[in-house]
Amino acid sequence: MHPLGPLLFLLIPALQCTSQEAPGAADTATFSGTAPVPTETVITVPISEYSFSAFPLPSQAPIAGVSPRTDPKKPPPVGSPFIPDFTKAWHGAYHKAKERIANFTIDEKVAIGTGVGWSVGRCVGNTPPIGDNGTKFPGLCLEDSPLGVRFADFVTAFPSGINTAATWNRKLIRRRGLFMGRENVGKGVNVALGPMMNIGRLAQGGRNWEGFGADPFLAGEAAYETILGMQEGGVQACAKHLINNEQEHFRTQESSDVDDRTQHEIYAHPFLRSIMAGVASIMCSYNLINGTYACENEKIMDDIIKREFGFQGYIMSDWSATHSTISAITGLDMTMPGDITFGSGTSYFGPNLSSYVQNNTIPLARLDDMATRIIAAWYLLHQDAEDFPTTNFDAFNPASEVTNEHVDVQADHFEVVRKIGAASTVLLKNTDCALPLTKPRSILLVGSDAGPAKIGPNHFADQGGVDGILAMGWGSGTANFTYLISPLEAIQSRARKNRTSVSWILDDYDTDRAGNMAIGKSAALVFISSDSGEDYITVDGNEGDRKNLTAWNNGDNMILAVAAQNNNTIVIVHSVGPLIVEPWVDHPNVTAVLWAGIPGQEAGNSITDVLYGDWNPSGRLPYTIAKQASDYSAQLVLGGEGSDILSIPYTEGLNVDYRHFDSLNITPRFEFGFGLSYTNFTYSRLHIGKIGHQGSTDKKLEESWAAGNATPIAQGSSTALWLHRPLFNVTFEVENTGSVWGGDIPQLYLNMPPSAAEPPSLLKGFTNVEVLPGEKKTVSITLSRYDLSIWDTVAQGWRTPNGTIGVTVGTSSRDARLQGNITIID
Ligand code: BGC
Repeated sequence: MHPLGPLLFLLIPALQCTSQEAPGAADTATFSGTAPVPTETVITVPISEYSFSAFPLPSQAPIAGVSPRTDPKKPPPVGSPFIPDFTKAWHGAYHKAKERIANFTIDEKVAIGTGVGWSVGRCVGNTPPIGDNGTKFPGLCLEDSPLGVRFADFVTAFPSGINTAATWNRKLIRRRGLFMGRENVGKGVNVALGPMMNIGRLAQGGRNWEGFGADPFLAGEAAYETILGMQEGGVQACAKHLINNEQEHFRTQESSDVDDRTQHEIYAHPFLRSIMAGVASIMCSYNLINGTYACENEKIMDDIIKREFGFQGYIMSDWSATHSTISAITGLDMTMPGDITFGSGTSYFGPNLSSYVQNNTIPLARLDDMATRIIAAWYLLHQDAEDFPTTNFDAFNPASEVTNEHVDVQADHFEVVRKIGAASTVLLKNTDCALPLTKPRSILLVGSDAGPAKIGPNHFADQGGVDGILAMGWGSGTANFTYLISPLEAIQSRARKNRTSVSWILDDYDTDRAGNMAIGKSAALVFISSDSGEDYITVDGNEGDRKNLTAWNNGDNMILAVAAQNNNTIVIVHSVGPLIVEPWVDHPNVTAVLWAGIPGQEAGNSITDVLYGDWNPSGRLPYTIAKQASDYSAQLVLGGEGSDILSIPYTEGLNVDYRHFDSLNITPRFEFGFGLSYTNFTYSRLHIGKIGHQGSTDKKLEESWAAGNATPIAQGSSTALWLHRPLFNVTFEVENTGSVWGGDIPQLYLNMPPSAAEPPSLLKGFTNVEVLPGEKKTVSITLSRYDLSIWDTVAQGWRTPNGTIGVTVGTSSRDARLQGNITIID
């Protein structure tokens, strides 16, 4: 499991934990603002003269060396300086799609975007074959979920999205995406319904665990790498849910009321990055946005996604989230699963759409566009290839021997599951090197979360129940476990190497017995959990969203009972999101806390690797852990009856998660980005250098931006190459000053000047670096013009603010180690 292999174990005889050092005096560096154009010169370039180099648009000329033409199945490697340009790939796919539908009738074109209905067909969503036996088009299989192939056997249950984000490791994120892409293709899935990229505005949000955490930049990078990986594997990815589906309660009857700036800077950003990764499809959400249903929201679908972000794929509805035929005009391309309500046999598309086109309510050109987008995405991923597998499983009839061919697609994907499980585990407390465990004489495992499920890992439909180790939330975002390793199984097996005596008590409520058993043990490991999921399943009174932020199954009481008897109590948390840990976190006998998220099928092995130091923790929190629930900037909105529409004003605006804690100076228990290691890292020699763009075809745009103007309104303006190319290179050194190998996650935050009216710090860069004891490595993080911009609601474009922009590099959102400045406009 060690990333550098067995060799390293020879070099480093034993892992030793060293205590954390206080951060040294901040090092500083400055890039002083030589704006290429004096501020008084206002450049006004007519829009017609702008030649955008957005990645997805066919009209653009790629810039040699910076933006190589990319096929989705051959993306640039992780960390490559090249920004993928899918222009040519989309262009070719559009050409083929247009040719293919040239002789289709109106009904056939409509059928391309009309699902066949709920539980008709083998997948959770299906479009019909067109022509005799699909000779004109074979139809599509659309299947959940963001962490594996749902309802299928012989598949891998990958770590959740939230764990994937907690690694902050682009290579691992990409690899998981690739393997999920391959498994989907192996099962004959055309479109995998993920990744999910809602932001986690509410700590209690039921589906937060499917996504990538509470910061748009982190979520955007995770979405980007996941999609590049999935599509390299050959499946069409689907970025969901567009947009503001941030709570489960009343999700089909709530209007998320969001201002334009917040929408752009927070919620839309992961979708922008998805489009830059060449995502084939997007799913619009159940809720309303500013009073209009997402799947008929012209502002979101047509204006932001298709016009401003230049998206060339197709938008499908969430399941039964279509509300009208006219949605086709406002940007919806496909209705899923096809029927208005499940099993109704009616559809807003189908014959209704055909007659709207026939009577010119909806232009034929728009129907052509819908059909072209869907078929182009199929060509983009080369799914027309003869060897693309036909669907070989049956989501609705998993027991049928006729329709399930039981194709094994797991390969050796368990390895990356185990590694991500370890790399996403966040060490939150480690007093006097309680961890890693070094040949303990005896250990006690406490809590049902340490053990296997009494009735197997797939007993509850869609994982809607808690029994044993929690490795996944519930709802459509799940997959079946082919197997699930519990901590008890993995720790027992590992402990045998040291001849450690292992005892356990899996009853969560027998605190007296647990306390007694803890007496005299070298370490008592208490496992607690907290679960959530999608609204159609209620577990223990939690209707999807969590009803509170406390541990399930008597967790807090159990920790206190054990800690009362054992001065080396180690807490392991398997949770979908933040918990309030105040009842026990400062207890002197609680010596260590490991935050393990919901890590998928290798849960037990992953936590064992961290407990024993075979993996030095490098996970960082993808959200803030508050001291009390009311400290978060937004709370669940309850209530609503009958046909009420609940209004949910996003009054906190940009102040989501850590941004809010920073703005109001609220001390969290553990801040966003936080995580300890078994070693120490020190940072030095910050340098900020400007990158010249030789032979840029977008000089005028670049100069206009540097003069403080907003990007102009045009198609693809927000994904334009010139806006996203690296403009500054921030370099610094990271040294491992401890005595064991370790991976660190340096994070870069911008501190915008007051004129920008932003929260105090904004994550705009991160990387992962592995360093041997005594070794020093130079790290580089780039910043683009987009990173240095804010959304101007009046100009409807991105512009850089007046004043000095602070750059801090550190180990979390609150631990700045190095400081510098960039000034574009004085
Ligand atoms: C969920 C989607 C899912 C779809 C199909 C919906 O309830 O919101 O995320 O892809 O069902 O299962």
